Amino acid sequence: PTTPAERAKFAAARRALDYVEPGMRLGLGTGSTAVFLVRLLGERMADRDLLCVPTSSRTAALATECGLNVRALEDVDALDLTIDGADEFDPGLTLIKGGGGSLLQEKIVAAASARMVVIADESKAVSRLGAFPLPVEVVRFGWRSTMRHIERLLATEDVDGRGVRRRTAGDEPFVTDEGHFILDLDLGRIGDAPGLARRLDSLPGVVETGLFLGLADAAIVGREDGGVDFVE
Ligand code: A5P
Repeated sequence: PTTPAERAKFAAARRALDYVEPGMRLGLGTGSTAVFLVRLLGERMADRDLLCVPTSSRTAALATECGLNVRALEDVDALDLTIDGADEFDPGLTLIKGGGGSLLQEKIVAAASARMVVIADESKAVSRLGAFPLPVEVVRFGWRSTMRHIERLLATEDVDGRGVRRRTAGDEPFVTDEGHFILDLDLGRIGDAPGLARRLDSLPGVVETGLFLGLADAAIVGREDGGVDFVE
């Protein structure tokens, strides 16, 4: 870690190792904070009989490279613990995830875990969600029609912004590991996260939203001075 933000992410990832016990079935998150975690696990815990289930092809490749025992969720079934980053979290531990594009697998893995611990730097802690654009994964078929449904829904939601755009990677549309598109919703402020998640989920074409409700048990928040704070 070289920058202050990286030091904070590293501090959170390092402290998360305290939650990892030999023989655990472990979900591995995606993103720059999770990269620190995977590297640390490889350096310090690769011999501890861990079964690791990654939440993206990127994390799978890194975990394999780091000597971890990588398995598909289908082969492990239930997990003891998932450790993952977040784009935002509020004091009640509702999260926005998916900035890295892996929200679907991240949510499936988190839901298969007895516990989920978030690792993040201080900038991710917010009093109210929504400054970070909310990612929504949609099937490619008819995506413009799905986008129009979302725009119509947002017109009546308790939010400050209503912009919707399809995520791109360079000049091309961004495509997820599961072959879907991501729409990013510029909401500014989300007044009713459970209601919004429920209403988005009910639209045809929506696969999953980046709102994680009732999934995280704790957050380890790294500070730039190398210390950590806990939210539980
Ligand atoms: C990946 O899809 C996201 O949900 C990440 O967990 C999130 O973007 C956090 O990433 P950083 O650790 O890079 O901030």
